[in-house]
Amino acid sequence: MKHPFYIAPSILSADFSRLGEEIFACEAAGVDWIHIDVIDGHFAPNLTMGPVVVEACRKVTKLPLDVHLMIEQPERLLEAFAKAGADHLTVHVETCPHLYRTLQQIRSLGVKAGVTLNPATPAVMIESVLHLVDVVLVMTVNPGFSGQNFIPEMLPKIVQIRQQLDALGSTAYLQVDGGASEKTLPALIAAGADTFVAGNAVFKHPNGIAGGVAAMRSAMKPSP
Ligand code: DX5
Ligand code: ZN
Repeated sequence: MKHPFYIAPSILSADFSRLGEEIFACEAAGVDWIHIDVIDGHFAPNLTMGPVVVEACRKVTKLPLDVHLMIEQPERLLEAFAKAGADHLTVHVETCPHLYRTLQQIRSLGVKAGVTLNPATPAVMIESVLHLVDVVLVMTVNPGFSGQNFIPEMLPKIVQIRQQLDALGSTAYLQVDGGASEKTLPALIAAGADTFVAGNAVFKHPNGIAGGVAAMRSAMKPSP
């Protein structure tokens, strides 16, 4: 494994009336990135956050801001998100007819480039651009909402992308998003994922944010 394991709490599950405090609590609990879900109500249901929220997060943390764009024509907003302080911009293959160009555009902004696939989209759709990406995100729920059930049929796709990345010698993060928790982590790790977005498993954990992060960290350790 090239990386240790990374946890990226999705603020879509946070209490927005206390967003700064929620991010501080994540940071204190030792998370690695902050995941920001941008949804336009067209590509995916729900209507969430724009560059102003990224800018607000940028003011309260130095952690990498991992921005997941579930929007049509993402190329129109890449610069605005980069200026707002995004460190990673991840686009959906389903929204990018000129994916190669879009990924080059992200890189030219000095930001890490990510690509992601809906559950119904096969791994082959990103094969030709893997050398251009820093993050590959496999959606393990239908995009739109936190708190959905993990789709276990995505595990073979994670295995397949892990093999493709290894064959290329790529050090890209292999990230999963949707239903990641202490329960699903062992299977995700066995499939080859190394970076875990977690909404409800962190923000709605019965033992609070620190408890949720600790439970995920302990699920990452091999059992004795
Ligand atoms: C879904 C979002 C996810 C979501 C994850 O469209 O991309 O980041 O917030 O939430 P959980 O971890 O609760 O499934
Ligand atoms: Zn997400």
